[in-house]
Amino acid sequence: VNLKDRAVQFQLACLVLLSIGAFFATIRFIPIVGPMCLKRGLGGKDINKGGDTPVPESLGIVSGTIYLVVIMMFQPILSSGLTEYNAALTGICFMMLLGFADDVLDLRWSVKIGLSFLSTLPLLVSYTGSTFIVVPVPLVPLIGHNVINLGLLYHVYIAFFSVFTTNSINILAGLNGLEAGQTIIITISMLIHGIIQYTMGIEPATNLASICMTVPFIATTAALLYYNWYPSKCFVGDTFTYQAGMTLAVIGIMGHSTKTLMLFFIPQLINFTISLPQLFGIIPCPRHRLPKLNRETGKLECIKTNWNLINLFLFILGPMSEKHLCSVVLWFQVFCNVMAFFIRYYVSTWVY
Ligand code: UD1
Ligand code: MG
Repeated sequence: VNLKDRAVQFQLACLVLLSIGAFFATIRFIPIVGPMCLKRGLGGKDINKGGDTPVPESLGIVSGTIYLVVIMMFQPILSSGLTEYNAALTGICFMMLLGFADDVLDLRWSVKIGLSFLSTLPLLVSYTGSTFIVVPVPLVPLIGHNVINLGLLYHVYIAFFSVFTTNSINILAGLNGLEAGQTIIITISMLIHGIIQYTMGIEPATNLASICMTVPFIATTAALLYYNWYPSKCFVGDTFTYQAGMTLAVIGIMGHSTKTLMLFFIPQLINFTISLPQLFGIIPCPRHRLPKLNRETGKLECIKTNWNLINLFLFILGPMSEKHLCSVVLWFQVFCNVMAFFIRYYVSTWVY
């Protein structure tokens, strides 16, 4: 696989063209499917606006379906050297189905977690890749080897990894544009990482496959964000957040860059960690853990009993409008990802 290779150039050109097509198809279909969703009761109150008019929910079903169609067309490239391709597709489809079921049935938090474990099954049963992990240099004298084989434990790792990516995106939510916004930033970071690896000649086939999975995902998510950005004309639903987490997990696992992907998930990790007391029910966890709207100022104010990143930002920086707060969280994501690149390409050379 070489960039100078005519076949690769052709494939990349197709990828870009199809992704542009996917962007416009998503832009076209969301306004059509949105009212259909509302008619069947798939809508949600825009909580931070205080109004009662429902906004169509679960429009991730449009972007997700179009995304799957595109990557199915890339089967010849994606499957070369990647036997897990079909498992990846099944995993993403399964997760999307469960997300959609969640949107319709409004499942309990513990049931959501249980079901997201199920969706990792296709990946687990088919994973035949390496189960070795590289030991950081300072630990080599202690362990006595520079790689260790995790064996079956590697599968456990993959399962927890995918459940973490899906649920952690899903709970960094509740502001117009936040779910799709964070997903785009992480996916662009993965794309840049894939391009760097590819041009450095590291596992070119694997990294080309990652690139093929990221580009259409950025396109369809951008179209979704176009409608989901403040003031939202549609909500993405768990259909999208689950699909997004699983797609990123698959890109990380197949691209052999799960550790790098974890670095891009630092804001989600912080949000998840401060959410733990509520997730485990140590502190009561309401259905929505959003800040409260002050109707006089039009700004959001921190609710100190809802422990998550958006309330933490309000606590530190003071009341803000919803749009402003969402931008702050997304810029924080960009900042963290820039730091992640620094850690991945500079600091990690000291330990690996
Ligand atoms: C997660 C969060 C929850 C948060 C919700 C918002 C945890 C454990 N769960 O729950 O605290 O309130 O996401 O998505 O942290 N909505 C808005 N504005 C938005 C996006 C969503 O008002 O910008 C509301 C709408 O009513 C929408 C609903 O949230 O219908 C969707 O919530 P859902 O995705 O089902 O919530 P969870 O993922 O269960
Ligand atoms: Mg959700």
